[in-house]
Amino acid sequence: MRRPTSTGLAILASYCLCFLAIPSCTEGSAEAHLSKLDLGEAPGSSSATGAPQDPALQDPENTPRARLRLSGQLEGYLEPCGCASAQLGGLARRSFTNQQDRAYDLLIEGGNLGVGGSELDLFKLMTILQVLSSKESPYQALGIGPRDLELDPESLGEYLSIFDIPSIASDLRPKQGQTWPAKSQVEYELPSAKVRIASLALRAPEDAYQLLSPEEAWRSAMDGVADDCFRILLVHGSQDDARNQSKLEPRPDLIVSIGASHAEPPSTADEVDGIPLVFPGIHGRYLLDITLARVDGKSQIRRYRPIQLAGSRTAKGAMEDKNMQAVIRQHRFDVKEAALREVIAETKPRRAKSEYIGSAACAGCHPAASKAWRESKHAHAWQTLEDAESSGRYDWPVTFYPDCIACHTVGYGEVGGFVNPEKTPALLNVGCEQCHGPALDHIASQGKTLLGPVDPQTCTSCHNLEQSPDFDYASKWKLIEHGLK
Ligand code: HEC
Ligand code: HEC
Ligand code: HEC
Ligand code: HEC
Repeated sequence: MRRPTSTGLAILASYCLCFLAIPSCTEGSAEAHLSKLDLGEAPGSSSATGAPQDPALQDPENTPRARLRLSGQLEGYLEPCGCASAQLGGLARRSFTNQQDRAYDLLIEGGNLGVGGSELDLFKLMTILQVLSSKESPYQALGIGPRDLELDPESLGEYLSIFDIPSIASDLRPKQGQTWPAKSQVEYELPSAKVRIASLALRAPEDAYQLLSPEEAWRSAMDGVADDCFRILLVHGSQDDARNQSKLEPRPDLIVSIGASHAEPPSTADEVDGIPLVFPGIHGRYLLDITLARVDGKSQIRRYRPIQLAGSRTAKGAMEDKNMQAVIRQHRFDVKEAALREVIAETKPRRAKSEYIGSAACAGCHPAASKAWRESKHAHAWQTLEDAESSGRYDWPVTFYPDCIACHTVGYGEVGGFVNPEKTPALLNVGCEQCHGPALDHIASQGKTLLGPVDPQTCTSCHNLEQSPDFDYASKWKLIEHGLK
């Protein structure tokens, strides 16, 4: 378990300052948000925006309904990396959409905002919470997932309490007496219905949290709930983890599966034992709008609309919230300022026993493979980052940002892996050892210590859904093919 570090606390302080400096955030103080979110007032239902009324609200049957805008499993994707064209997602686009299209009563973020417990994850959490609590489109519920719990409990509790997004962790009780703002449930009174929201993490580090069983957690979260209130359950984990909750009492009206089982929302809602079940997808690529209605005592989904968060085709950055762009840009510079590139480097064990030495050392014995590599794009992957930075394609220091470095260098994050261009120049680019593993022993033994075959999955760890949407091993291998010579 990581303890809060001095860097973490320093950034906390710097973010508070920056938070105040950004115009859209000046009213983001606890008091301002709390009064806005008082129960009884319907968040997001203001007609002052002039947004067209949702047809479901004019439904003549006058059945109770709740319009929810869902997302989850952001996993630190503040914005698309730009490695491939037309990438989806990004918090600035989300914020823009939430302000332009207000056909919702509640904004709900499922959780798993980040992917680990590093300083970078803390910096990201701060940035994400800042965006989700922006006063133009504040979130009203935030589930806490197991990935969020990889952060040290003190920092997580502290960061959550700085922002006023009601956080929910129905099955978690912190063991030590740290700050813990998360509630067992939150309830809202919407124009035509009440909703109560609970969230199950299902997994948690034992040293820091007591984990309640789903049954116990749900029962206590739904204690005293009115019969006509919509009971919404956010569940973290696999699809089965979500399906397994269908027997809970009182019966949920909606189960939202927060996890990686669906990269994007399916085209229709699913159900389990008659309970609507939805998947908002991953990495903030989509928002999922649903209207939940109750007919003859049974909940059903009236409207189901995945909203793809694509950029503008004509003007770069046009369909993004400018204030949130500024928040994210500030984050990029803070990461450089705090030297997180170096802080994150060399924090994990090396993947194999040997050491990294660099691609140049292979050329003598493998001239043909080395030539093929030099002529491939992998040999220029760092230059690509430098060019992207100097050409103004990105207006922030990409060569200092850990997420970018990880796929454009060798062994970043591992002991003996890439640190920075000055300290480890031989490990710039997607070198031989990024695929074949550290090779010092192989060389010292004149090739007798074998490296072993490369798992094709190695490719898709970088050429993934986001970075290379249409990657296919057979044809891409042809482009970088090389062998023993
Ligand atoms: C460590 C991350 C990483 C791994 C692992 C990786 N690549 Fe790449 N690949 C990149 C990057 C980054 C680029 C773009 C480099 C540039 O344009 O500067 C790239 C570019 C390519 C290109 C050229 C662009 C294109 O799509 O035509 C091919 C082909 C390619 N990779 C094939 C592969 C294959 C096959 C594997 C697995 C054997 C693989 N890559 C593994 C990061 C990786
Ligand atoms: C998960 C691995 C991964 C991460 C993280 C990553 N890249 Fe890439 N990047 C790739 C791969 C793979 C390609 C090659 C894509 C292709 O051509 O199919 C690429 C290509 C690129 C290109 C060339 C694309 C072009 O159109 O010329 C740029 C520029 C780039 N990345 C910048 C970045 C920046 C900036 C970041 C951080 C925000 C980043 N990358 C993070 C894997 C990654
Ligand atoms: C001193 C010469 C020498 C150098 C330097 C060398 N290799 Fe090799 N390598 C060999 C020999 C000899 C073989 C054939 C071993 C066999 O098949 O028994 C080999 C085989 C391989 C193989 C296939 C067998 C295996 O190990 O899985 C890979 C992959 C490989 N080398 C990668 C590299 C990489 C990457 C580098 C640079 C980091 C490198 N080699 C540097 C001599 C060398
Ligand atoms: C993008 C990943 C990637 C990079 C970078 C890469 N290789 Fe490979 N290499 C492979 C794959 C995949 C194979 C196919 C054989 C296998 O599965 O191991 C292979 C095969 C080889 C083989 C033959 C292995 C055999 O048993 O036939 C050698 C030798 C080799 N590579 C050396 C190198 C050297 C030297 C470099 C750098 C100059 C390099 N490779 C860069 C992925 C890569």
